[in-house]
Amino acid sequence: MKSITKICCIGAGYVGGPTMSVIAKQCPEIQVTVVDINKDRIDQWNTNDLDTLPIYEPGLKEIVAERRGKNLFFSTEVDKAIDEAQMIFISVNTPTKTYGKGKGQAADLKFIELCARNIAKVAKDDKIVVEKSTLPVRTAQAIQNILDNTGNSVNFEILSNPEFLAEGTAIEDLIHADRVLIGGNDTPSGQAAKDALSAVYEHWLPKERILQTNVWSSELSKLVANAFLAQRVSSINTISALCEKTDANIQEISRAIGFDSRIGPKFLNASVGFGGSCFQKDILNLVYIARSYGLNEVADYWEQVIIANDYQKSRFAENIISSLYNTISGKKIIIYGWAFKKDTNDTRESAAIAVADALLEERAEIIVYDPKVSEERIYADLDYLNTRSPEENRRLLKVTNTPIEVTKEAHAIAILTEWDEFKTYDWKTIYEQMLKPAFVFDGRRLLDSATMETIGFNYYKIGQS
Ligand SMILES: NC(=O)c1ccc[n+]([C@@H]2O[C@H](COP(=O)([O-])OP(=O)(O)OC[C@H]3O[C@@H](n4cnc5c(N)ncnc54)[C@H](O)[C@@H]3O)[C@@H](O)[C@H]2O)c1
Repeated sequence: MKSITKICCIGAGYVGGPTMSVIAKQCPEIQVTVVDINKDRIDQWNTNDLDTLPIYEPGLKEIVAERRGKNLFFSTEVDKAIDEAQMIFISVNTPTKTYGKGKGQAADLKFIELCARNIAKVAKDDKIVVEKSTLPVRTAQAIQNILDNTGNSVNFEILSNPEFLAEGTAIEDLIHADRVLIGGNDTPSGQAAKDALSAVYEHWLPKERILQTNVWSSELSKLVANAFLAQRVSSINTISALCEKTDANIQEISRAIGFDSRIGPKFLNASVGFGGSCFQKDILNLVYIARSYGLNEVADYWEQVIIANDYQKSRFAENIISSLYNTISGKKIIIYGWAFKKDTNDTRESAAIAVADALLEERAEIIVYDPKVSEERIYADLDYLNTRSPEENRRLLKVTNTPIEVTKEAHAIAILTEWDEFKTYDWKTIYEQMLKPAFVFDGRRLLDSATMETIGFNYYKIGQS
């Protein structure tokens, strides 16, 4: 197989944008075109003001500044980019289905199918089609069927190349990937396709870290990796509830068990619950697949990870309500952080949404501050829940960009994202201007208990009584 000189990526989102930027940076001789049907998103990728790129990731704007217009292009001309490329990444969203069979669990593959049909319609020469999106095991078969039955008799090789980046550290994760997984057919043309994709990554990663498997193992590995990561978070979070009842300290537990080399220290931070677009969606998908094969015990086991996560969010909200004397109606509560974690503007499945919704149900007056999330996004997240009218959401919840000033006469502050800047705030001033007793509910274990208590706060830190 000739080496790849033109890549197209369908989907300019949290995965497509950063991944292709890094490929363009590391492979200057490859022309990379990222396409999307969302014109606004593409316009934002092409903006002169790099601070308004559609996705915030540390290190991303520097790469876009360096490569855009040279070998990195953002465009809405999907057909043209497909036609020109030898290798096409599909990086579109695969949300949980909200209708029909599998509603609430299965992955909605309509965007994937549209891409496959589009590729089939446009392609006039052989293509390697790479599944970058996270997909249920055996999706490659469906893509192959569509391509083979509707295409112009050209040869398509389907590869699975799931993305393991974490938002907030996407660029670092891509440049120093622990591993890259490439699944493909064991035929000679399948092997050639796997090698062609491997050669792209070999521009910057050692070959030992590029793992080749069959397609089905690759597809399933991505779901399993996310399930294991989320399971760790839920495991430590359930223990945080026990710590709060027993005077044990979750941080000491994490440290004690993390020293066991079989367990390891990472991903053992208790928090208000995991969020993000992937963990919940991918586990639900795993649960759905297991159940569809009649493996109910397997499905129930993994479903518990989500149940524990929901419990963590609701228990945090309930603790705020009960600590504020079981009545928060009309009380001013400040939420610090709306993003699902620090260093991203992504709010999908953020714990803040569930906590805010529970507090709004009790008619609290909420003011939200997040350094990277826009007001429109915050209201859109709440409106999407359909718990109350959009007018009611806007009446009860306000968004601010003056985080210190708004704490005047506030009853409580809830920290829901671990943004570093919260650590640097003048908490003494904040305390002085709040109503007393002044409560801080730290859902990210960000602040120092002794300091906060010395200032005078009623300070609740998850996992500590
Ligand atoms: N976000 C993450 O951290 C992450 C990490 C690993 C894997 N993934 C997986 O990667 C996939 C993409 O996730 P994302 O977060 O980048 O999603 P996203 O919603 O940010 O981006 C998807 C983009 O695809 C575009 N799109 C949809 N259908 C299209 C079509 N037919 N033609 C052209 N463009 C189309 C949308 O307009 C959108 O801009 C998902 O399967 C997700 O599970 C995400």
